[in-house]
Amino acid sequence: MNQTSTSALWAPFTPMRQFDRQRLLINSAEGMHYTTTDGRQVLDAMAGLWCVNAGHGQGPIVEAIREAAGRLDFVSSFKMSHPAALDFADKLVAKAPAGLDKVFFTNSGSEAVDTALKIARAYHQARGDCRRTKMIGRAKGYHGMGFGGLSVSGIGRQKRDFGPLLGDVAHLPLPYDTSLRFSPGQPGQGAHYADALLQLLEIHDPATVAAVIVEPVTGSGGVYAPPLGYLQKLREICDRHGVLLIFDEVISGFGRLGESFGAQVFGVTPDLMALAKGLTNGAVPMGGVLVSGAVYDAFMQGPDQAIELMHGYTYSAHPLACAAGLATLAVHDELRINAHVQQVAPVWQNAALALREQGLVLDVRAIGLLCAVELKPRESAPGTRAAEVAQRCFDAGVLVRASGENILLSPPLIITEEQIALIFDTLRRALDKVA
Ligand SMILES: Cc1ncc(COP(=O)(O)O)c(C=O)c1O
Repeated sequence: MNQTSTSALWAPFTPMRQFDRQRLLINSAEGMHYTTTDGRQVLDAMAGLWCVNAGHGQGPIVEAIREAAGRLDFVSSFKMSHPAALDFADKLVAKAPAGLDKVFFTNSGSEAVDTALKIARAYHQARGDCRRTKMIGRAKGYHGMGFGGLSVSGIGRQKRDFGPLLGDVAHLPLPYDTSLRFSPGQPGQGAHYADALLQLLEIHDPATVAAVIVEPVTGSGGVYAPPLGYLQKLREICDRHGVLLIFDEVISGFGRLGESFGAQVFGVTPDLMALAKGLTNGAVPMGGVLVSGAVYDAFMQGPDQAIELMHGYTYSAHPLACAAGLATLAVHDELRINAHVQQVAPVWQNAALALREQGLVLDVRAIGLLCAVELKPRESAPGTRAAEVAQRCFDAGVLVRASGENILLSPPLIITEEQIALIFDTLRRALDKVA
């Protein structure tokens, strides 16, 4: 054993030396709550990590996984499959915006993004347009930790330690400025930020660009909703220049914004859509890429026996994940989760925006059941204020996430109005106590 730790675990995105001194360990979960190993109940205002959208321990999902594990533990997805994979693909596509007709399964959001980027490049190759290899991401975008996703991501600190990433990547600015602070939902101004895409295309030569990738609502980068008309403009510019548009809906999908996907909320359909997290309610790792019929069809050429897309993962369409995904869709329907989110989102938004009176709050951004409360940074110690607030919330029985100067909130979508009030009351009290 090394000298600094008493456990073999190296945890992701975790300050390990601090964690070793003070371990936060969860024992069980049900509905809106976690129970820690020392028996404390904590209201989960993060849906785990933006993923347990239908709430913890959903009976039908647990049962479906159990049943699948006992019947078919594994089958390769290379040149074969199983009924639940076909069923899940069909049911998922039925929820998707019209035109997204196919789904390629992965095991995580990172793999979904890398898969989408590879499909985008290979699509242009398949059409004989071999010059289109460049990707355009956006500032503050998070697209997972694969080399592809990290390359298009817009969070510099996450790239710093990992050497050269994909070349041929450019970034759009965030469609945000201080005049948009405290906008309820989608800011009314700011669509003009999409014009930056025209400038990038001019700099990089539009004929060399394969795809633009954005989260419809920036998630872990700080919850930035798209200004009204912004995504429409991106779509138009992409269409005009033969560039594919990829939405990363790993967070914004599965009811988070009150529809199955953000694309439906904003009325813009991408060519490819990356999914994960809420796809299986977080219960089994899974991701996927929804693909337009037109993109798929471009691959379907050459001899019948030739593999059209040289890509895939051992655990693509894993039986347990497909079972969890099918049960998740059924639970969403049964509980009418989208309708519930539409009903409580205004309550959420009002409770969030009421924090603007608190002196430490620089901005509040809330849409659907997402929220970022941005704090004024401590000049001498950036990031420490949000971390302290999050710790105080946890001690008071509410789990929130601190990231930089932001407190991030993304609760299970079965949340009640009372629980919304409790989260924001707890947050306000924590804010009142920190300097
Ligand atoms: C928008 C977005 N894309 C991709 C990912 C990566 O997903 P995963 O952690 O499952 O690889 C995340 C994870 O938070 C995400 O928020």
